[in-house]
Amino acid sequence: MSSVAQDFIAGLPKAELHLHIEGTLEPEMAFALAERNGVKLPYASVEAMRRLYDFQNLADFLDLYYQATQALLTERDFYDLARAYLDRAREENVRHAEIFFDPQAHMRRGVPFGAVVEGLSAALNDAVREGGPTSRLLMCFLRDLDAADAVATLEAARPWLDRIAGVGLDSAEAGNPPGKFTEVYERARSLGLRAVAHAGEEGPAAYVAEALDRLKVERIDHGVHAIDDAALVQRLARERVPLTVCPLSNIRLCVYPDMRAHPIQRLFEAGVVVTVNSDDPAYFGGYVNENYRAIQQAFTLGAAELTQLAKNSFSASFLSDTEKKERIAEVDAYARTNGT
Ligand code: HPA
Ligand code: ZN
Repeated sequence: MSSVAQDFIAGLPKAELHLHIEGTLEPEMAFALAERNGVKLPYASVEAMRRLYDFQNLADFLDLYYQATQALLTERDFYDLARAYLDRAREENVRHAEIFFDPQAHMRRGVPFGAVVEGLSAALNDAVREGGPTSRLLMCFLRDLDAADAVATLEAARPWLDRIAGVGLDSAEAGNPPGKFTEVYERARSLGLRAVAHAGEEGPAAYVAEALDRLKVERIDHGVHAIDDAALVQRLARERVPLTVCPLSNIRLCVYPDMRAHPIQRLFEAGVVVTVNSDDPAYFGGYVNENYRAIQQAFTLGAAELTQLAKNSFSASFLSDTEKKERIAEVDAYARTNGT
């Protein structure tokens, strides 16, 4: 890739809207936290852990991802994890991050909800004091568990709802359609929470439509399989439903064989509000700028397209309209000075 495009991406102000904080746990930190907590991870070394990052599908990845969370036990662990991500995000000119966490993955190991959310939110607040990014927390329900478990998790979250902007839905998608969670989403929305859901990552286009119709989500995480249904693509464009696309994740999990086969460019050209994100960057070979670089290279994107993607990331966010306008103006100013 041209170094001009590399530099343009590096400096571009952007938001990241699809980021699992547990997916930022680098092996070095996993080992350091495990040692601090007296936990034994089932890998011989950092290198041995990295050698397992050869995933054939989403299930392969999720096995390792949940296993590595064993290192995370205390409020301080969650603080350190989020601080490390936010420091990295600031270096990549991420001005705003909407961050997923998986409370059920921790509560089933005996970690209290409060330890997770207090640690994360303290890190988010400290980052703002130190120059950003601003951020929001989105709590995900694990879709391979029962709907009743999701309801119990929402109840457990009640004392901390002032720290949580919305709910999401993640984990094993195939066989766990969005409709299974209709009631808990209704309850979450009635409590004033925003709603998003993973759909159409490994699951079919029909799951994307179901997430919109049954869960009333405001944006779709991944959503790439919408490309298999032309009428759905038109609907996403017409209704301006944003997709939080994670290109490197989709390649690493073999959703598409290579970046040239990835539908992001086709979705973008069809007028869908596409955004670029890193999903689980410790596992998928790159943080957000690496994702921009990978698609820039595959589709020879220019400054105009990259600028539009960055603007989409703010317009698709849960910032206020005033904040969105300010951040988008920042992107425009950057493009005027640095665009070629
Ligand atoms: N898909 C589904 N569940 C997840 C993911 C993902 O990419 N990352 C963490 N949990
Ligand atoms: Zn995800």
